[in-house]
Amino acid sequence: MSKINVDLEFASDFLPKQALQLWATDISLANSMLTKKWGKGHDFLGWLNLPEKSIQQLPDILSIARDFSGELDAVVIIGIGGSYLGARAAIDSLTSPLGIHRPGPEILYAGHHLVGKYYIDLLEYLKDKRWGIVVVSKSGTTTEPAIAFRILKNALENQVGQAAASRRIIAITDEKKGALRKLSTQLGYKTFIIPDDVGGRYSVLSPVGLVPIAIAGFSVGAMLEGAREMMKASENDMSLATDPVARYAAARNAFYNQGKRIEILCSFHPELHYIAEWWKQLFGESEGKEGKGIFPAVAEYTTDLHSMGQYMQEGPRKLFETILIPKEAQADLQIPEDPQDLDGLNFLAGQELSYVNEAACNGTALAHLAGGVPVIRILFDRIDENNLGSLFYFFEKSCAISGYQLNVNPFDQPGVELYKNNMFRLLKKPGY
Ligand code: PA5
Repeated sequence: MSKINVDLEFASDFLPKQALQLWATDISLANSMLTKKWGKGHDFLGWLNLPEKSIQQLPDILSIARDFSGELDAVVIIGIGGSYLGARAAIDSLTSPLGIHRPGPEILYAGHHLVGKYYIDLLEYLKDKRWGIVVVSKSGTTTEPAIAFRILKNALENQVGQAAASRRIIAITDEKKGALRKLSTQLGYKTFIIPDDVGGRYSVLSPVGLVPIAIAGFSVGAMLEGAREMMKASENDMSLATDPVARYAAARNAFYNQGKRIEILCSFHPELHYIAEWWKQLFGESEGKEGKGIFPAVAEYTTDLHSMGQYMQEGPRKLFETILIPKEAQADLQIPEDPQDLDGLNFLAGQELSYVNEAACNGTALAHLAGGVPVIRILFDRIDENNLGSLFYFFEKSCAISGYQLNVNPFDQPGVELYKNNMFRLLKKPGY
């Protein structure tokens, strides 16, 4: 029995009886392409066994995390896209929704945009703190994180001197290539390797995600265990009746073929915001090519029911919705009784907020289904390291299978280069 359940009850009107079975051959073919490594992009399948491979690096990761947590008040994680979103997704989900109550040092982010005011404020915030840097870039040359690293490295060196700064910097990059590798060797940074065969958006279970998550004080061992359970569960079976990867990939492509070209990933938990952002990158960069692909969009309920709810209910019927549902609340609060009941809420007195949230979730799924939007529900036990590990692996494998169903290469991103080339030309970078 898998830890993740893909429930299609609220989508059944759009998936007539036996319809999923039509996809059985496709799914099993896509799975063979992955496991036998003969599909498009087969040089980038290292993520498939990261849950087992990364365990070997745990002692080193945990020892670094202990040193950083013991010595530093704050750590800035520098990276963009796949070199940033996985770590942020896990850390933000496991931190309380208000951003307080987290074990390790404070975690801040940089290198994911180009706004000066952000860096001015960040440097001001850090100036009296003991802080360090984890810089993540596979190529070692991506502009946004490279600029951020130059700014922050400079500030740290000015604050504590070059030798001490070098001890507070960890670089996660390619084993041999790139400017960051060169700099790390020269200045003696502690480094971790991003394997050649693992692309950015499939790298959360490598040091790219694990080092920052461990520094933030969360159990990366439990996360890898959750991922390993999902890996084992979806290794051979891929039955459309029981396998969550097969069910999700098949349902998405069934909707796509019905003209539903937009998938909204939503949850009723704001702490899952960056899980949705990570998912958006994973599916957007993997599938959107050759004029094909489902457009991945995200919404946060109930907040967005008061902004996008109208469109979801009555706009063009080109959408389907996927709701992420943790079955247990992390913590709960009872609604108090009020003797006067002027707000008329006493009918809820004594009930917990999760009870109201669940009613909102079920009410929304029913409403959207009635409005012509099929709803996939992805249920898992709770938001913790183990379940997040399973979710990461589940989505990565679903994305790869779904990409193969579309007959695209889910592991490259050639379309991202054009903006960079234009930007470099406008900036007069030598050679452009
Ligand atoms: O998924 C991807 O490959 C991209 O999003 C990259 O992670 C992103 O562009 C950052 O690249 P790099 O790690 O080389 O700095």
